[in-house]
Amino acid sequence: MRVHGVARRSIRPLDEDHAVEIIDQTALPHAFRLLRLSSVGEVAEAIRTMQVRGAPLIGVAAAYGVALALRANPDDAMLAAALATLAATRPTAVNLRWALARQRALVAGLPEDQRADAAWREAAAIADEDVEQCRRIGEAGLDRLLAGRRGGGRLEILTHCNAGWLATVDHGTALAPVYAAFDAGIAVHVWVSETRPRNQGLLTAWELGAHGVPHTLIADNAAGWLLARGTIDAVIVGADRVAANGDVANKVGTWLKALAARAAGVPFLVAAPRSTIDFACPDGRGIPIEERSADELLVVRGFAAGGQCGEVRLTGGEVAVANPAFDVTPGGLISALITERGCCPATRPGLLELYPEETSG
Ligand code: MRU
Repeated sequence: MRVHGVARRSIRPLDEDHAVEIIDQTALPHAFRLLRLSSVGEVAEAIRTMQVRGAPLIGVAAAYGVALALRANPDDAMLAAALATLAATRPTAVNLRWALARQRALVAGLPEDQRADAAWREAAAIADEDVEQCRRIGEAGLDRLLAGRRGGGRLEILTHCNAGWLATVDHGTALAPVYAAFDAGIAVHVWVSETRPRNQGLLTAWELGAHGVPHTLIADNAAGWLLARGTIDAVIVGADRVAANGDVANKVGTWLKALAARAAGVPFLVAAPRSTIDFACPDGRGIPIEERSADELLVVRGFAAGGQCGEVRLTGGEVAVANPAFDVTPGGLISALITERGCCPATRPGLLELYPEETSG
């Protein structure tokens, strides 16, 4: 994707493979700030504080985190500590554990002097694979959208959270079909759900704007009304974990949109690469849901009247707050999963048809 006319990925290696550069997503959309991470501690902190976020990107960042740890010290104790530190950062997106397991399987049997280079190459391979998988999701998703199109008018897509290139390495998951449509000259417009409390919808609006894709920001609660009055052709969201039976954990509020889409007879599509599918998790009840801090609800960030960026606390007093960051949408509400291997029903047989190598699991 291009930012200010420059093609870039959301993460890239620096300093002859001794650091990575990320886009600080906590600064967007107010400022475009690049950060250099050169230790496993810095990578873990960036994931924990959501400077890097989005399931596929978290996995790639964690893979680079392992490589940075082994650059500092390639012994078994460091490997175990790095894996534990990174695994503890965020619980729901399974891409994190998937990438750590892949790094562990690769380096544990290697001599210490080969570990850092091997882990670095593996992280780069995971990043490249993510780009290719998201590109394919874009193709498969666009085919699906065009097959279900009502008439020849502009495609009206509703999305929630940010599942664009910022949340992956490039292209995005839910937004990949949107970019594929736009780049093919197909008229498309995206309704962007604001996504309280962290406002990932603003990230979606920012990246769609940077690419020139027409879009409109809406309050989360406006989605039901738009669906009910027939404005939306399809809802597309990403996923943080897809269970083996097709249940999907994604940003909190996703389930409500799936319910509204079902009531309105609008297709509800979930786009996710293989790294997001957890065949070891039988159904959505096994997915851990991250509980985040109360301040995410109580403090908002934006521009003051004078133009300076700052924070505002919404309440002066004490208030009890619950902040579950994700919810689980049952596979029965999902019209199709879109993966790099094509589309399938959100069921165990559907997933196994696309990934037959998982049948014995
Ligand atoms: O808490 P976040 O911002 O990391 O959550 C991100 C989401 O829920 C995305 O929709 C999901 O990771 C899909 S990523 C392409």
